[in-house]
Amino acid sequence: MYLIGETTHGHHQIEMACNACHTSAFGGPEVIQSACIDCHGEELELAKDSHPKTKFSDPRNADRIDILDARYCVTCHKEHNEEIAGDMGLTLPEDYCFRCHEDIGEERETHKDLPFDSCASAGCHNYHDNLALYEDFLLKHADEPDFKHPAVTPARTKLATLAAVRNFAIMTSDQVHADVALDAIAGQEELVAQAHHDWSQSQHAHTGVNCLTCHAAEEGEAVEDDNNVTVLGLQTSNWVEKPSYEVCQKCHTDQVDGFLLGKHGMRLAHSLSPMKVSDAKIMMKTEAGHEELDCMSCHSAHRFDTVAAATDSCLTCHDSEHVNNYWGSPHGKLQQEVLAGVRATEEGVTCATCHMPRIEVSIGDSQIVMVNHNQNENLRPNEKMIRPVCMKCHSLEFSIDALADDELIESNFTGQPQQHIRSIDMALERDAKTNRTDKAY
Ligand code: HEC
Ligand code: HEC
Ligand code: HEC
Ligand code: HEC
Ligand code: HEC
Ligand code: HEC
Ligand code: HEC
Ligand code: HEC
Ligand code: HEC
Ligand code: HEC
Repeated sequence: MYLIGETTHGHHQIEMACNACHTSAFGGPEVIQSACIDCHGEELELAKDSHPKTKFSDPRNADRIDILDARYCVTCHKEHNEEIAGDMGLTLPEDYCFRCHEDIGEERETHKDLPFDSCASAGCHNYHDNLALYEDFLLKHADEPDFKHPAVTPARTKLATLAAVRNFAIMTSDQVHADVALDAIAGQEELVAQAHHDWSQSQHAHTGVNCLTCHAAEEGEAVEDDNNVTVLGLQTSNWVEKPSYEVCQKCHTDQVDGFLLGKHGMRLAHSLSPMKVSDAKIMMKTEAGHEELDCMSCHSAHRFDTVAAATDSCLTCHDSEHVNNYWGSPHGKLQQEVLAGVRATEEGVTCATCHMPRIEVSIGDSQIVMVNHNQNENLRPNEKMIRPVCMKCHSLEFSIDALADDELIESNFTGQPQQHIRSIDMALERDAKTNRTDKAY
C-alpha cells in the first residue's frame, strides 16, 4: 500500500521485505546507504571499486560532488522507479562519466576524439568493477592466443579436504536406515525403493551420508564409533519428508551461502517464501511455473548428479534465445563430446561453467576449488566473467570482444565476435609512446 512504484529488477524478489532496506524510519540518507553497503559492500570491495566513497571524501575531489553526489548509492541507483531504471538499476543519463572526466582527451592522446557517452561502453570501462579492464592488466595479457592449450576448468576439491582445512566433522554412518523411511511413510514402498536406489549410486552413499542424516527431525548426539568415525546418535522418530536447505548447510555451508546471495535463493535469505518460477521477470518455461527454488531444483533427490545439474536442470526453467541456443553452440558441442566420453569433463563448457564457475579460494595455506552458487555474482557487467571463466580457455582480447557483442551472447557464442574493442591496442599505443618506467606487469 505504501509502495510508491515498482522496484527494480535487481530487488523485485525482496520488494515486500521493506525493512531489508528501510531499516529505520529515522536517520535520513545514511540509513539506506548502510543497507546498500551491508548487502553489496563486500562485493564492491572484492571488485576493488574504482569509485569508492573515500575518493569523494578527498578534499581535492570536492568539486566533483557538486556535479554529482557520488558518495551516495541512490544518486545513481534510485528505487521504486522502474520506468527510469536501465541495466543494473542505473537511473542516470548515459553521458554522466563525462561530467567528471571532461578533460580526459587532454590528458590522453588515445582518448582525444572519443564520444562523450562511450566511456562505459561494453569492454571499455565500468564504474565499479574494472578488474579485467585496467591498463596494466590489458598490457600483461596483450599477446595471448584466442584459444589456449590446455583449455580446461580446474577440478573440484573433495569435501573431506575442505572439512580438514575448516576443521569440521562430516557426520556419517555405516547404516543406511531406509527401514525408518518405510515405517514413517507407510504404503510408499516404491518411493522409498527409488530413493534408496538413486541414493546408493551417489557420492552421499559412498561417503556414508545416510537417510537419517538428512531426514531425521532432530539431530542426535554425535558419538564416535569403533573406528573413530563421528556418527549421529540417530533419532528414528519424526521423519522429515522434505528436508530443506538448512540440512545441507551442515556440510555444504559455502554452497548455501552463495545460493542465498543470488536470485535463486535471495527470498529465502530474507525469510520469505521460496522464489516461484511464475514470479520471474525474465523468460521462463510456462510448464515450470509452479516450481519453487531450492537446492533440489538442480540437484534432484537422491542422485545429486552434478552433470545434469549443470545444463539439463537449467533448461527445465529458463527459456530465452541465449539459453535455447546453447546445445547448438561450439561450447554445447564440446559438452556433448564430454557426455559421450570422448573428452575430459574439465574441457566441457556448461551453463554452470559460465554462471556458476568453479572458483579457487585460499583458506589458510590450502587452495580449494568449489562451485560458486551465486549465479548473479559474475552476470553483470559481464566483463566479470572474463577472469574467472573465459580466460581459462581464451585470450583477454577475444573474451572482451565476445562479451561486447550482444548478438553473440544471444546465439550463445556461436561464431566469431563481429566487432573489435580497441582497449588493448590503445594501451599498447600509449605504452610504446610513453616509455613508462613504472610498469607493474
Ligand atoms: C531493495 C531496497 C528497498 C526495498 C526492499 C524497499 N525500498 Fe523503498 N526505497 C528504497 C530506496 C533506495 C529509496 C529511495 C531513497 C532516496 O531516494 O533517498 C526508497 C524510497 C521509498 C519511499 C519514498 C520515501 C523516501 O524515503 O524517499 C517510500 C514511501 C518507500 N521507499 C516505501 C517502501 C515500502 C512500503 C517498501 C516495502 C513494501 C519498500 N519501500 C521496500 C529501497 C527499498
Ligand atoms: C555515479 C554513479 C554510481 C554510484 C554513486 C553508485 N553506482 Fe553502482 N553502478 C553504477 C553503474 C554505471 C553501474 C553499471 C556497471 C558499471 O559500470 O560498473 C553500477 C552497477 C552496480 C552494481 C551491479 C554489479 C557491479 O558490480 O557493477 C551494483 C551491485 C552496484 N552498482 C551497487 C552500488 C552501491 C552499493 C553503491 C553505493 C555504495 C553504488 N552502486 C553507487 C553507477 C553508480
Ligand atoms: C537485503 C540485501 C540488499 C539490500 C539492502 C540492497 N540490495 Fe541490491 N541486490 C541484492 C540482491 C540479492 C540482488 C540480486 C542479485 C545480484 O544481482 O547480485 C541485488 C541487486 C542489485 C543491483 C542489480 C545488479 C544487476 O546485476 O543488475 C544493484 C544495482 C543493486 N542491487 C544496488 C543496490 C543499492 C544501491 C542498494 C541500496 C539502495 C541495494 N542494492 C540494497 C541485495 C540487496
Ligand atoms: C562524480 C564524479 C565521477 C563520475 C560521475 C565518474 N568518475 Fe571516474 N573518477 C572520479 C574520480 C574523483 C576519480 C579519481 C581521480 C581521477 O583519476 O581523476 C576517478 C577515476 C576514474 C578512473 C581511474 C580509475 C582507477 O582505478 O585509477 C577511471 C578509468 C574512471 N574514473 C572512469 C569513469 C567512468 C567510465 C565513469 C562513468 C561510468 C566515471 N569514471 C564516472 C570521478 C568520477
Ligand atoms: C543428502 C540428503 C538426503 C539423503 C541422504 C536422503 N534424502 Fe530422501 N530426500 C531428501 C530431500 C531434500 C527430499 C525432498 C525432495 C524434494 O523436495 O523433491 C527427499 C525426499 C525423500 C522421499 C520422498 C520422495 C518424494 O518423491 O516425495 C523419500 C521417500 C526419501 N527421501 C527417502 C530416502 C531414503 C530411503 C534415503 C536413504 C536411502 C534418503 N531419502 C536419503 C534428502 C535426502
Ligand atoms: C552430513 C554431511 C552432508 C549433508 C547433510 C549433505 N551432504 Fe552433500 N555431500 C556430502 C559429502 C561427504 C559429499 C561427497 C563429496 C566430496 O567428497 O567432495 C557430498 C556431495 C554432494 C554433492 C556432489 C555430488 C557429486 O557427484 O559430486 C552434491 C550436489 C550434494 N552433496 C548436495 C547436497 C544437498 C543438496 C544436501 C541437502 C539436501 C546435502 N548435500 C547434504 C555430505 C553431506
Ligand atoms: C541452479 C542450479 C543449482 C542450485 C539451485 C544448487 N546447485 Fe549445487 N551445483 C550445481 C551445479 C551445476 C554443480 C556442479 C558444477 C560443476 O561441476 O562445475 C553443483 C555442485 C554442488 C556441490 C559439489 C561441491 C562443490 O564443489 O561445490 C555441492 C555440495 C552442491 N552443489 C550443493 C548445493 C546445495 C547445498 C544447494 C542449495 C543451497 C545447491 N547446491 C543448489 C547447481 C546447483
Ligand atoms: C526451478 C527453476 C530454475 C532452475 C532449475 C534454474 N533457474 Fe535460474 N532462475 C530461476 C528463477 C525463477 C530466477 C529469477 C528470475 C527473476 O527474478 O526474474 C532465476 C535467475 C537466474 C539468473 C539471473 C538472471 C538475472 O537476470 O538476474 C541466472 C543467470 C540463472 N538463473 C541461471 C541458471 C542456471 C545456469 C541454471 C542451471 C545451472 C539455473 N538458472 C537453474 C529459475 C531456475
Ligand atoms: C560461455 C558462457 C555462457 C554459457 C555457456 C551460457 N551463458 Fe548464459 N549468459 C552468459 C552471458 C555473457 C550473459 C549476458 C550477461 C549480460 O550481459 O547481461 C548470459 C545471460 C544469461 C541469463 C540472463 C539473461 C537471459 O537470457 O535470460 C540467463 C538466465 C542465462 N544466461 C542462463 C544460461 C543457461 C541456462 C545456459 C545453458 C543452457 C547458459 N546461460 C549458458 C554467458 C554464458
Ligand atoms: C573450458 C574452456 C572454455 C571456457 C571456460 C570458455 N570457452 Fe569459449 N570455447 C572453448 C573452445 C574449446 C571453443 C572452440 C570449440 C570448437 O570450435 O570446437 C570455444 C569457442 C568459443 C566461441 C566460438 C568461436 C568460433 O569461432 O566459433 C566463442 C565466441 C567463445 N568460445 C567465447 C567464450 C566466452 C565469451 C567465454 C567466457 C564467458 C568462453 N568462451 C569460455 C573453450 C572455452
